Amino acid sequence: MCGIVGYVGEQQAAPILLDGLGKLEYRGYDSAGIAVYDGENIEMKKSKGRLKVLNELTHDGETLPGTIGIGHTRWATHGEPSDVNAHPHFNEDRSIVVVHNGIIENYLKLKNKLIRKGYQFISDTDTEVVAHLLDYYYDGNPLRTITKIMHRMEGSYALGIMFKEHPDELYAVRKDSPLIVGHTKGGCVIASDVPAVLRYTRDVYFIENEEIVRMTKESMEFFSVDEEPIEKQSTHIEWDVDAAEKGGYEHFMLKEMYEQPKAITDTFSPRIKKNDVVIEELGMTDEDIKGIGKIMIVACGSAYHAGVTGKYVLEGMARIPVEVDVASEYRYRNPLIEDGTLVVIISQSGETADSLAALRMSKEKGAGVLGIVNVVGSSIAREADNVMYTWAGPEIAVATTKAYSCQLIAMYLLAMKFAKVRGTITDGELKEYIEDLKRIPDQVELLLNNKLRVQKFANRYLAARDVFFIGRGVDYAISMEGSLKLKEISYIHSEAYAAGELKHGTISLVEDGTLVLAVLTQEDLYKKMISNMVEVRTRGAFVMAVTNEGNDEVERAADYVIYIPETNRYFTNSLAIIPLQLFGYYIAVGKGCDVDKPRNLAKSVTVE
Ligand code: G6P
Repeated sequence: MCGIVGYVGEQQAAPILLDGLGKLEYRGYDSAGIAVYDGENIEMKKSKGRLKVLNELTHDGETLPGTIGIGHTRWATHGEPSDVNAHPHFNEDRSIVVVHNGIIENYLKLKNKLIRKGYQFISDTDTEVVAHLLDYYYDGNPLRTITKIMHRMEGSYALGIMFKEHPDELYAVRKDSPLIVGHTKGGCVIASDVPAVLRYTRDVYFIENEEIVRMTKESMEFFSVDEEPIEKQSTHIEWDVDAAEKGGYEHFMLKEMYEQPKAITDTFSPRIKKNDVVIEELGMTDEDIKGIGKIMIVACGSAYHAGVTGKYVLEGMARIPVEVDVASEYRYRNPLIEDGTLVVIISQSGETADSLAALRMSKEKGAGVLGIVNVVGSSIAREADNVMYTWAGPEIAVATTKAYSCQLIAMYLLAMKFAKVRGTITDGELKEYIEDLKRIPDQVELLLNNKLRVQKFANRYLAARDVFFIGRGVDYAISMEGSLKLKEISYIHSEAYAAGELKHGTISLVEDGTLVLAVLTQEDLYKKMISNMVEVRTRGAFVMAVTNEGNDEVERAADYVIYIPETNRYFTNSLAIIPLQLFGYYIAVGKGCDVDKPRNLAKSVTVE
């Protein structure tokens, strides 16, 4: 959600800025712009729409010469997507220019104050306030000026700033919005996220809240809000550059689906030692694990769905009560956190604003917090008491696939570990679960290779208007994720229902030709599910089922069946999700949708 880049160094800035913005496209945006300083003037180009337009406008950066610059992809919050609201934003005499990610919550108050002082605004954004505020407090010393506005701004911000009077200096500062900086050969880069800088450096500094960075082509200095110098350690990023490129696939989403077998293996294998599950980074002794009274899983979007699966698996296997909540609800409902509650925050990006706020609130209430995070060094990873990484690598498509699959694996690993320590499974059972876990990557591969069957089916339903996903137990959890995948990228209305709830309302929406996707992988619930499928079918629905190999009885209640290979009752989500991901993907491709960058959505939701 909004992407920031910046460069100062020996090379031309514009092509580097445009390249970086390209790498951040996945975050979601509706307009883009860059500003480059050639030592005489700060030139700016910005436009509504895709980056392609900006590339054309600037002849791939050629028309903006200069070796220092900032760039931005905007996801509108204040003011419609338009050329004038796009970033960067100038002060009136064009001597200060900023790009901003986040929301200045008291911007109206600040704006009115500045208007009273005679400032004129040309955009509807909260960001323009920052440019004028910098101008108002500017006293020739950029660092001091930045600290002054930090004391006056409320809300969240990551800012890239240039001052005309300081042609060699690039400034960056952050509060509650992600920002990283790194050295390149003969320069420095700033960005909202790692993929934008991978081509230039693997050693990055994660800027903490209220830290300021001053960069020149030779130096990088960090300061606190009191203008005190700070020492910082860099973090080495293992991801390789290719991982953030499409590598011959038509879409990142398809590539990332195909990366699932490896991502799953990378996530579980370091934590399986012989016939045991060892999660060193948990930071919990066996006594601590035995003392857990309740687990609260908090997350957003697909990560929340992984948490719903986690509830079924943790309660089933380890017999620990689990609550799952979406972070935006949890953070405002004053949850009861008793002694012995473990809060688990799941997040791919580690930057989701609501999840981060939920984490902070849980810590204030005295809970121990475990983060399950994909992006190393992200805010949630840093602020959680302990962090268990999912090793999915960079995920670019807005609709998550491989990161979600790794979150499921993290849930299984936790359940197995807790169950073993608390004695709710035997050593023999644990061994079997481990064997099943090790089989998942090949089974996922097999399902992916069967994609044509799903594609054929999807092509028949390109015109669908409503699709319902139904399931029971963990199959309800996977129905939620399958439904989200479909609606995010194909714009077809879709809902997931606990199959037993159908009769309490939704069945009234079923009519001739309505598509229902039924997931039934829980043997003890087959019969119940088949009854639900018959109910919708007799009302005209067309039913596609996803079920276990060998459940031939399903054929009498379904029009189309996809079989998944055998695993235990807790791990079926990892297999059932594959045809559902493929279904969403092929419908979106068939409808000509922008699969990797669906409208109105952002990969990393860093504002509330
Ligand atoms: C956005 C993304 C989803 C993601 C959710 C939570 O909505 O589009 O794919 O599941 O945010 O993000 P997180 O980074 O916290 O997992």
